[in-house]
Amino acid sequence: MQESLRLMVERYDVGRLLSRSVLMVDDEPENLDVLEALLSDEYVVFRADSAAEAFAISQSQPIDVIIADQRMPGMTGVELLEKVGIDHPDIAGIILTAYTDSPAIMSAINRAQVFRFLTKPFDAELVLRSVVEASDHVYHHRAIAGLVSLVTSRNDDLAKALEDLRAAQQGLLHLERLGTMGRLASGVTHDLRNFLMGLSYLEVEVESGGVSDEIRESVQIGLSGLRNLLATLESMNQFARSGRLGVALGPIQPASVVRDAVTVMRMDMEFRRRKLDLRLQPDLPEVLGDPRKLTQALVNLIRNAVQATQHGDLLIVEASRLPEGGVVLAVEDSGSGVLPEIRESLFQPFMSSKGEGGMGMGLYMARLVAESHGGRIECQDLGGRGTRFEVFLPVPDTA
Ligand SMILES: Nc1ncnc2c1ncn2[C@@H]1O[C@H](COP(=O)(O)OP(=O)(O)OP(=O)(O)O)[C@@H](O)[C@H]1O
Ligand SMILES: [Mg+2]
Repeated sequence: MQESLRLMVERYDVGRLLSRSVLMVDDEPENLDVLEALLSDEYVVFRADSAAEAFAISQSQPIDVIIADQRMPGMTGVELLEKVGIDHPDIAGIILTAYTDSPAIMSAINRAQVFRFLTKPFDAELVLRSVVEASDHVYHHRAIAGLVSLVTSRNDDLAKALEDLRAAQQGLLHLERLGTMGRLASGVTHDLRNFLMGLSYLEVEVESGGVSDEIRESVQIGLSGLRNLLATLESMNQFARSGRLGVALGPIQPASVVRDAVTVMRMDMEFRRRKLDLRLQPDLPEVLGDPRKLTQALVNLIRNAVQATQHGDLLIVEASRLPEGGVVLAVEDSGSGVLPEIRESLFQPFMSSKGEGGMGMGLYMARLVAESHGGRIECQDLGGRGTRFEVFLPVPDTA
């Protein structure tokens, strides 16, 4: 047993287990002199002439074995070992006593887990052997404790690996759900495309005159909304099938994307009940973009902003140039901010706080659009005064 334990301690690098230090305590210094002479060749020896001093040493030094006189003023040897054992149950105690075993001492010994009990006057040979055996006992105790704690920490590693696995599984689940959605969307997309074709005749009629400007505008807004919806469904479908978002990039004016998104949003009664501050910086550089996809991304952001605010609240929609090059499209609202529990995974699919009212796809799609343009999307918490979403787009090198 001893040998196999030593092998395991070495193999698993449990560390140094013995300090080879012995603490002796006796109120008669001559006894300490004899013990010290006996042990100091082999061990580091600490001396104390009271139980209190011995206790203090046991708290500050790495001790393997304590040899304590039983009869000391203030505290008995067994009481001392009991007290030391609270914080250091791995230290072995040897009690020296002139008494022959009285039942009182025996029961105390059980409580204090005294390793050995030696009678005075002691036999040098026996003391030495007892210290060797007590050290072995300590080694045993510490080796097992060390190995157990190693197994426990491995367990933590295992728990972490399991957690990572669970997250990966969650990701797979997302893809699975995206696939299902893509299949569902393909049916809807097909119907919608036919429906839109029918409506295009209406558009021609309306354009050729005979209706009021108001009706013409409503039809145009309605149709552009439908076209956008169709475009979104098509990208979802495509994404579900290929895992990529295809973009048709061409030189476009960022301001026109923002205007298109606002036009689409005008279909929404709630949007019309917000105050809109449209900030389009003049002379913005062109970006390489897919106008439909960028419009859709912006619509998603504006729709979220509408849903986060109340009647009469302010929405800022912005397009501006970045000092370091590139363009930023931003949507800012004065709502109550993103819930802390979803902040980390805001741009993941199916992350929604809206229950039946949301799929949790809006920001995810916006992120895919930004990234497929070589850009990125960020969310800024305005410290209780709302939220700002920014889509950064690179500007192609014209040099
Ligand atoms: N402007 C905002 N203010 C506060 N919370 C927001 C804002 N925009 C998004 N969120 C939070 O982020 C979540 C995810 O938004 P996302 O647009 O991806 O999904 P959704 O709006 O819930 O559903 P949908 O797929 O219909 O857009 C929302 O449910 C909401 O909790
Ligand atoms: Mg949304």
